[in-house]
Amino acid sequence: MPRHVAVIMDGNGRWAKQQGLPRLLGHRAGADSVRETVRLSGEWGVEALTLFAFSTENWARSSDEVRGLMALLARTLRREADELDKNGVRLRTIERIETLPTSVQKTLQQTIDRLNGNRGVVLTLALNYGGRQEIVDAVKSLLVSGEAVTEESLSRHMQTAPFPDPDLLIRTSGEYRLSNFLLWQCAYTEIYVTPTYWPDFRREAYLAALHDYQRRDRRFGKA
Ligand code: FPP
Repeated sequence: MPRHVAVIMDGNGRWAKQQGLPRLLGHRAGADSVRETVRLSGEWGVEALTLFAFSTENWARSSDEVRGLMALLARTLRREADELDKNGVRLRTIERIETLPTSVQKTLQQTIDRLNGNRGVVLTLALNYGGRQEIVDAVKSLLVSGEAVTEESLSRHMQTAPFPDPDLLIRTSGEYRLSNFLLWQCAYTEIYVTPTYWPDFRREAYLAALHDYQRRDRRFGKA
């Protein structure tokens, strides 16, 4: 079983279009997939789940869509807090939280605090996240610290520290791109791409990804 699974959740918009629905209903269905994936990760022994929920590039979408996504995020966290707590989930975020709307920041902090003592799945939401920016920030912080510049020291200054790198990266909706997600951390990560749109990514699709991972021969560059 992979210890750490990262997911680029893609295809909410195309799923909605396919159903003749507004894009925001695609995101809403995507939030249900988030709930299911978090729950199954706990059941199956995945220790950490990192979800790309909002990229630095996503601000370029219509203001209605950005507002709708932010409201959905806050609403989902408030609605799911009890269930997450019951399942022992811990919550953290990576990247520029301070540029998110204040109400979203507040809900995030309240939920993080509430789930703080839990010992189950570590759910990391990448919000307003960009992989290159994260590397630049880590380099700045490392230089300020005065430590020697090594792979290990730079890793310790990444926002993902102290958690191990993802074992498996899942991307939905058939796109073969990293899209600026966890660039440093995915050096040896197994990548799994499925044509399934994120709102349709439920139990069967997640199982298929994990089965595929179990067939991989991970050599980390060695013979
Ligand atoms: C990608 O689909 C999805 C997003 C940009 C947002 C992901 C957000 C959620 C699943 C909602 C709630 C999140 C949490 C953590 C509760 P897309 O819009 O890029 O789809 P498209 O490529 O088909 O247009």
